[in-house]
Amino acid sequence: MIDVVLIGHGNVGSHLARVFKNTEGIQLRQIFSTRKIENDAALEEIRTNRLSKISSKAAVYILAVPDDKISSISKKLLLKEKLVVHTSGSASIQVLSNKNRRGVFYPLQTFSKGTPVNFKEIPVCVEAHKIEDLLILLKLGNLISEKASKISSKERSEIHLAAVFINNFVNELYHISEDIMKKHTLDFDLLKPLIKETANKIQRLTPAQAQTGPAKRNDNKTIERHLEQLEDKSQKSIYTLLTESILKR
Ligand SMILES: NC(=O)c1ccc[n+]([C@@H]2O[C@H](COP(=O)([O-])OP(=O)(O)OC[C@H]3O[C@@H](n4cnc5c(N)ncnc54)[C@H](OP(=O)(O)O)[C@@H]3O)[C@@H](O)[C@H]2O)c1
Repeated sequence: MIDVVLIGHGNVGSHLARVFKNTEGIQLRQIFSTRKIENDAALEEIRTNRLSKISSKAAVYILAVPDDKISSISKKLLLKEKLVVHTSGSASIQVLSNKNRRGVFYPLQTFSKGTPVNFKEIPVCVEAHKIEDLLILLKLGNLISEKASKISSKERSEIHLAAVFINNFVNELYHISEDIMKKHTLDFDLLKPLIKETANKIQRLTPAQAQTGPAKRNDNKTIERHLEQLEDKSQKSIYTLLTESILKR
């Protein structure tokens, strides 16, 4: 049985709390959050809103808090020589206070509070200085996911960089598409099957095989017409930049 304390009940913390609570072999001992946990009485029962009330009996302490708070919160914990990990894709293991044994437990997925996820499919990237700690984190990761593995801070920061392109930047492109549709009183929902198929296709094909469109076809007439259609300067420059990137390949 792995005994866990969760610090933070936001986008990541709320999902971890649920999966830990429902997984055999894990005991979720306590959750730190200043906010009441609505609609889950069992989780609300183990919540504390004081860092000083955190139990010293757990095997792992998971900080699911904003990146810029990891360092200060890890310093404030009244714990010593315990295994304390963060869940960040970009923060180094070193940001954690060295009064405890340090580690990382990074679930490689985008999380929003209230939007369900299937943890079994989510890669969990773990890191620790000590082999015994690494084994605990791998065991914990393997209990909730089929894809837990050891990843160094350097590798994690490269993964996080790549993830920003396929998650945050793609989402910004959705936003631009929505703006264009709205401007012409068209329904963004019309594009949703295309969004779905684009994401499905990449499960079977490489990005090079999956690419289509005017830049891939070297269709300059369509590219010029699109650029004329775009009035917004930043949309024009994003279109030009991405078109050049596709043409260069
Ligand atoms: N969101 C994602 O998709 C995602 C994916 C993978 C990894 N991560 C990483 O997971 C971590 C958490 O991200 P998140 O999106 O879950 O953040 P979040 O939704 O903003 O949740 C942050 C949690 O931290 C608590 N918190 C904030 N400031 C605090 C402070 N000064 N002292 C104590 N607790 C504090 C908040 O508590 P209250 O509710 O009490 O305010 C909240 O429970 C980050 O390191 C992030 O990089 C995020």
